[in-house]
Amino acid sequence: MLETSIDTFSQNQKFSPTDWQRPIIQELESVEARLHEVPEGQNEFLTAASARLLSSGGKRIRPTLNLLAAGLFDTLDQHAISIAAAVEMLHTATLVHDDLIDRSLLRRGVSTLNADTSTDITVLTGDYLFARSANMVAEADNVRVMQLFSKTLMTILNGEINQRFSKWQIDRPTYYDRIYAKTAAMFVLATQSVAVIGKADQADQGAMIEYGRNIGMAFQIMDDVLDFTGDQARIGKPVGSDLRQGIITLPAIYYIETNADEPFVQDFLNYNQRTDDIIQRMVEEISESDAIQEAVSEARRFVLNGQRSLESFPSTKYSRSLFRLTEYIIERDL
Ligand code: IPE
Ligand code: IPE
Ligand code: MG
Ligand code: MG
Repeated sequence: MLETSIDTFSQNQKFSPTDWQRPIIQELESVEARLHEVPEGQNEFLTAASARLLSSGGKRIRPTLNLLAAGLFDTLDQHAISIAAAVEMLHTATLVHDDLIDRSLLRRGVSTLNADTSTDITVLTGDYLFARSANMVAEADNVRVMQLFSKTLMTILNGEINQRFSKWQIDRPTYYDRIYAKTAAMFVLATQSVAVIGKADQADQGAMIEYGRNIGMAFQIMDDVLDFTGDQARIGKPVGSDLRQGIITLPAIYYIETNADEPFVQDFLNYNQRTDDIIQRMVEEISESDAIQEAVSEARRFVLNGQRSLESFPSTKYSRSLFRLTEYIIERDL
């Protein structure tokens, strides 16, 4: 029965559920249905653009986190589904704007909105998706969750502006602040919001915040590793793009720290010498260096901390999947 459900799901949604998504597969289907709803009077372009974005794949990690955490607090109901859909919609909106800002032409293996349409339409479509996600989260009818949602959006956007103003900066504290804001904050939103809905005590809420934060940090470090080592056809987005844009991520920081004397690294550090060829050489050198494994080890430390946050919960199919999800973050190649 479960197998059939998974097969139908995969065929219909161009989405391949993984083992850790099994306990909430039915609820994920409801989330998909919510995401694909067409609000009355919605402009045709918005309908087509949303359908393309939402049907092109995506791992659905954030709604999965929401739903598994809801399972933990025994609140796997319509409100949890609304919040899970809202969080995935929020993620989708940030990707539309992120690809525009990064001038990225490929996402989930299909061309981005900014590749195919004008800047004003891309900005407005992203804004519209933000609005839809806010509308969905309001359905949960919980002021505290709405506060968490808006605060998270402020954190993400503040982080994006900080990233914009810290280009070429080689500094670990800045890096960690940045990845918290751009990625871990939304993971925390996913796990904390259902703990709030489930009226979890302070200790359990704290554990969910720590779990979301740690795996969010690990997730973004691995995203930054895959930007160097990933296979473009598999991850469905361009590789090597962070460094080209002046976004100095953990593999690059580790590499520069140990190879600062190399002449081409010196050239890279010098604004006047930093040519496209030098940046390309840096991307290649970093991809083949120990800095990659060092970054993966750092991600693994965050994962271990995330796993520790689960220790206080009883062993159920939900907590086991949340544990399994932490391992996937390190193993993933897309
Ligand atoms: C991409 O997130 C943006 C980051 C925060 C790294 P995902 O890797 O979860 O993207 P999809 O939704 O699976 O495409
Ligand atoms: C995206 O970070 C984070 C947000 C959308 C806020 P990245 O720029 O690293 O994401 P990818 O690599 O394009 O998916
Ligand atoms: Mg990007
Ligand atoms: Mg990236």
